[in-house]
Amino acid sequence: MVASQPMIQLRRVFRSFGSTQAVHDVSFEVEAGQVFGYIGPNGAGKTTSMRILATLDLPDYGDALIDGFSCVNDPDRVRRRLGFMPDNFGTYANMNCIEYLDFFARSYGILGRDRTRALRRTLAYTGLDKIAEKSIRGLSKGMRQRLCLGRAMIHDPAVLILDEPANGLDPRARIELRQMICGLAAEGKALLVSSHILSELGEMCDSIGIIERGKLIVSGTVAEIKTKLRPHIDVLVQLTDGGEQLSHWLAGKPKVANIQVSERVVRFQFACTDPQLQAELLRAIISANFSVLEYSTESRSLEDVFLQITTGAVQ
Ligand SMILES: Nc1ncnc2c1ncn2[C@@H]1O[C@H](COP(=O)(O)OP(=O)(O)OP(=O)(O)O)[C@@H](O)[C@H]1O
Ligand SMILES: [Mg+2]
Repeated sequence: MVASQPMIQLRRVFRSFGSTQAVHDVSFEVEAGQVFGYIGPNGAGKTTSMRILATLDLPDYGDALIDGFSCVNDPDRVRRRLGFMPDNFGTYANMNCIEYLDFFARSYGILGRDRTRALRRTLAYTGLDKIAEKSIRGLSKGMRQRLCLGRAMIHDPAVLILDEPANGLDPRARIELRQMICGLAAEGKALLVSSHILSELGEMCDSIGIIERGKLIVSGTVAEIKTKLRPHIDVLVQLTDGGEQLSHWLAGKPKVANIQVSERVVRFQFACTDPQLQAELLRAIISANFSVLEYSTESRSLEDVFLQITTGAVQ
């Protein structure tokens, strides 16, 4: 059997605006039938990366691929496979819902009965069938979000990119949105969905990526992220000599991970934030006759970053 290729791929994407590095070396993949939650505070770089995937912007370096086609070199093929729901609605206030969707169906070149079917399917899926003739001007925020999702799915794309679809929705509308997103994934579509808040996405996502100041600080399945986010401290030990020996000595110790040696400097993570246990570890290193010149700890763990982000703190 041929291994399935990812439907959404960012490969080492960089994008700057002047001195702002909006997206800095971001890579991730989303398979068919999967929902990837893209989480980060205001200005983190979510919209910038999504616009690149939607062929509305170009990376300075790297590539973005939809169903294996490059957003940079093959944008027409990408657009046929992709539906993008932007974070702002645009102004089409003089139309009603069905006219709005019909307009986008025509712009995708969907003709005749296919268009009638596409409209019926989209209106039913988004629950807009009861208000198909209602003017867009009179729609509530939740109804507008549904219409925006409808526009993104009118041509039945294999990939959907939804930029903060839950923004401004009440709890009930959020649950309904979640059901729609899970339904689309169950049909085999790949979805990339952004939000500021983990709890908004956690339950419906197969994988998540947390972006902060343009950098993807952690990504993986929800279970993997929970493991990675266990509280830890980053420790730096500078010695007069014996860096390699210390790294071997540390390798056998509990709660110690990610040991890196650079000449006489050893860095590692200690999966414990209890100061007593930290002091015991230092005592043990010195008792084992390592000649320590400097010992420092960095307490800003991923857990801190994660909490900061998921409580919605702005950078
Ligand atoms: N066209 C642009 N010109 C200049 N700076 C830009 C442009 N687009 C984005 N930026 C900057 O790039 C950074 C990332 O912005 P982006 O819109 O991607 O963040 P975001 O994660 O979507 O934020 P939000 O949660 O507020 O939507 C910000 O500092 C923003 O000011
Ligand atoms: Mg944004």
